[in-house]
Order: sequence, then C-alpha cells, then structure tokens
Amino acid sequence: MGLCPTPCKLLKKFDLNFFELEALIYLEWCGADNPMVLSLDLLIIFNRGDFMITFYFTATGNCLYVAKRINQGELISIPQALKKENQTYKSESIGFVFPCYGFGVPKIVQEFISKNTFISDYFFTVMTYGNIASGGLGHMEKICKQSNITFNYTAEILMVDNYLPVFKIEDQLAKEASKKIEENLEMIVQDISQKSNKKVEKCGTHKVATAVIKSAESTFLKSYIDKKFYVNESCNKCGTCAKVCPRKNISVTAEKVTYLHNCEVCMACINLCPKNAIHLKNQRSESRFKNQNVTLKELIDANNQL
Ligand SMILES: Cc1cc2nc3c(=O)[nH]c(=O)nc-3n(C[C@H](O)[C@H](O)[C@H](O)COP(=O)(O)O)c2cc1C
Ligand code: SF4
Ligand code: SF4
Repeated sequence: MGLCPTPCKLLKKFDLNFFELEALIYLEWCGADNPMVLSLDLLIIFNRGDFMITFYFTATGNCLYVAKRINQGELISIPQALKKENQTYKSESIGFVFPCYGFGVPKIVQEFISKNTFISDYFFTVMTYGNIASGGLGHMEKICKQSNITFNYTAEILMVDNYLPVFKIEDQLAKEASKKIEENLEMIVQDISQKSNKKVEKCGTHKVATAVIKSAESTFLKSYIDKKFYVNESCNKCGTCAKVCPRKNISVTAEKVTYLHNCEVCMACINLCPKNAIHLKNQRSESRFKNQNVTLKELIDANNQL
C-alpha cells in the first residue's frame, strides 16, 4: 500500500483505519470549510458497515483473484505486510486467503500470523487448492488459535493446481471447467458479505494426513526446493523471476540467474518466467500456469521484495 511513516503513525495514534485517514486527508485537501459537511462525510465513512481487511498470499494468481472478489475494503499482500512486524490490524472483518501447500498452510502465511496481532468481530479464511485439500483448513485454524484468532467462516475452493513437480498443467487446465470455480466462488463471496457463520468440518483422517505431511515437510522441502530448478539458454535476464519471488530468493545479473536457497516452493518464478526458461529437473511437462483474471504486474506488486 506504500503508506509513508506519518500516516502510519496517525493511524496508530488515533486508531483510524486506512479509509478514515484517507477521508481526513481528502477533506483537508479539498479545503472543506463547512464543519457540518465534514462531520457528515466522516460519519458515513466511520460507520462503513462493510469495512474489511483481506490478507492474501499468491504465487500464480488463484488466491489474488479470490481475494479481489471477496474484498470490500483493504486488500493486503502477506509478503509485503511481512516487511513490518508486530503490527496490530483492526477491522470489522478480517480474512486470510491462501493456497493449500502440502495439505496445510504455507510457511510465509504462518510466519505472518504469528508475528502480528489481529482484532475483529468477524474472522474468515478461504483456502484455494488444486486436487486434495485434506485437513488444510484445520491446520489454519490451529495456527490461528495460537494467535487468538477464532474463525467465524472457513471455506475451501478447488482451482487449477500449480504444483509442477507432480502435475502437468495441461491436464489441470483440462479439468478447470468441471471445478465450477465461478459458481463456488460466488457462494463464498455472498457468505462473507453477509457475515455468515459456517465452517468446513473434516474427519479425523484428514487431520492425521495433514499432521503427517507437516511433520515430514521440513525435511522434504530442504531436500527438494530450488536445487531442482535450472535456467536454460532462453533466459534474457529480464528479472521477472526475482520480482515475483516472495522470499527474495533469486538474484539476476547480466551474467546469470542464481537461486539463494531460501525458497517457499511457491512456483511463481517457474510459472511466470516470460521466456519459459526455468525448468524443474524431471519436470512432467513444459506447460505453465497463471490465473487469467490477474496480471503479471499484480503478481509482481504482491510479491516483489527488491
Ligand atoms: C508447494 C505447493 C504445495 C501444494 N500442495 C497442495 C496440496 O496439498 N493440495 C492441493 O490440492 N493443492 C496443492 N497445491 C496447489 C495449490 O494449492 C493451488 O494451485 C493454489 O490454488 C495456488 O494458488 P495461487 O495461484 O494463488 O498461488 C500446492 C501448490 C504448491 C506450490
Ligand atoms: S524471468 Fe526467466 S527470462 Fe527473466 S531473468 Fe528470470 S529466468 Fe531469465
Ligand atoms: S525461488 Fe521461485 S519457488 Fe522459490 S520462493 Fe522464489 S518464486 Fe517461489
């Protein structure tokens, strides 16, 4: 969002949300000299019944698309928000949109939640996934409970699977229509706008599956990660891979692209390289994925750490 330090301090000092501060600045600049008009305008803005903060993490755009559809207030990228720690976020509704990673919550999302405080009367979370969600939402509930967040609403939505080590993107795209993404998303949007109280409940088997994957994950990720990526001669050193990386894990110079071994395994770099120059050893196909409803620029803005 790029707020300068002074507005940030103002937000904190007067317990204003972003829209309230924006209104104050706007009215000041407009030279509003009629106090009645000013207080009426502020009253409307202070009482925004629909005010909401939607936090999201995305690599290939599914979660950004979902977050944009749900959002009725401020949309905040988790990798960008992580640049600051120990923040308190307060709003009428607070939500988290994230992709299922290994039947659970991506590390970057876990990190963000544990390092900040969230205050709201209505908490929601939506997890996007590609094939099997298992106990992913339960994992999110567990993590959030440790940060005093209890969800009023949880949902999972089946979208295109971007996990290149296991799937061929062309096969996943062929299944897209059968997933009824728009219909399912519309229901979630309606539910959240009406502050519905509803949660996905999964049986114990899913909880066990998630627990097993999560306990093995650190070993698996360490052994796997960016050591399996390589860049071929199609690379023109455009730097896009570095800009879409939420972990600042890629260095691009005039000579070469280097992975720095602090990888979230999000697949943004490999899916979004304009030259299709990044490959996985033993990859299943050459096809790549980006959600059509978001632009490359939006994904760069969401994740760029440079
Ligand atoms: C590291 C990684 C792990 C994943 N694990 C799962 C999973 O366990 N189950 C599943 O259904 N999809 C899994 N996926 C697919 C994503 O959850 C899905 O494609 C998601 O919608 C991507 O969101 P994005 O486009 O916002 O990045 C995984 C993807 C990645 C990159
Ligand atoms: S995005 Fe692709 S073409 Fe651009 S620098 Fe990275 S690897 Fe090279
Ligand atoms: S290096 Fe690629 S896969 Fe790893 S975190 Fe960065 S963008 Fe994601």
